[in-house]
Amino acid sequence: MISIAIDGPSGAGKSTISRTVAEKLGYLYVDTGALYRTIGLYVLRKGGDPKNEQQVEALLPELKVDMGYENGIQQMFLQGENVTGQIRTPQVSMAASGVSAHSCVRAYLLELQRRLARENNVIMDGRDIGTVVLPKADVKIFLTASSEVRAKRRFDELTAKGENTTFEKVLEDVEKRDYADIHRAISPLVQAEDAIVADTSQLNFEESVALIQKIITEHLSTQNV
Ligand code: DC
Repeated sequence: MISIAIDGPSGAGKSTISRTVAEKLGYLYVDTGALYRTIGLYVLRKGGDPKNEQQVEALLPELKVDMGYENGIQQMFLQGENVTGQIRTPQVSMAASGVSAHSCVRAYLLELQRRLARENNVIMDGRDIGTVVLPKADVKIFLTASSEVRAKRRFDELTAKGENTTFEKVLEDVEKRDYADIHRAISPLVQAEDAIVADTSQLNFEESVALIQKIITEHLSTQNV
């Protein structure tokens, strides 16, 4: 099986780019951020504090997170309920960042992610895929863009969905989340030593897709995979 690890900060376009490239290559696309988001949503629903490790750990035994695909689009299920549409709010983003700092949560999701990669050719996107989840991935890409560009994209996405927010607020959230993701003790967002950096600040969506596809096909062909 072939595994492609795509890591990088939030808003770099990882999920849309990875999903499109996966479709073109016929690989399964796995958005691991959605797993953390689903757990974050559960903690919020239970009235817990996502940053409180004890509270989060106490909720894990009763938690049921499942992933499926509908028309090729990843769907997240929480206690059997499809929550795909509910995990994209700014509140859930912050909650996901909170729960993702706890080792109990990372351990809980590790095997699920590895199993997907054992059973399928995958493009898996996240923060620690190349460093922790799939250290032997065939190709590792660190996909990034400047915080302003990422905030602008997120802002456009949110306003298109009717969310009432400002660019400054979104930029602040992006930078806060970057800081938390980079500085956490467990599985911080770091570039794997053998990752190829792709900066999409100056690229549009099609150009970004083409760049990632090129990196993957070139690396797979030199490895004779
Ligand atoms: O990629 P995203 O914005 O959907 O991720 C949501 C949060 O989950 C983000 O704050 C970082 C965290 N995350 C992580 O710690 N490890 C991953 N592999 C994926 C996401």
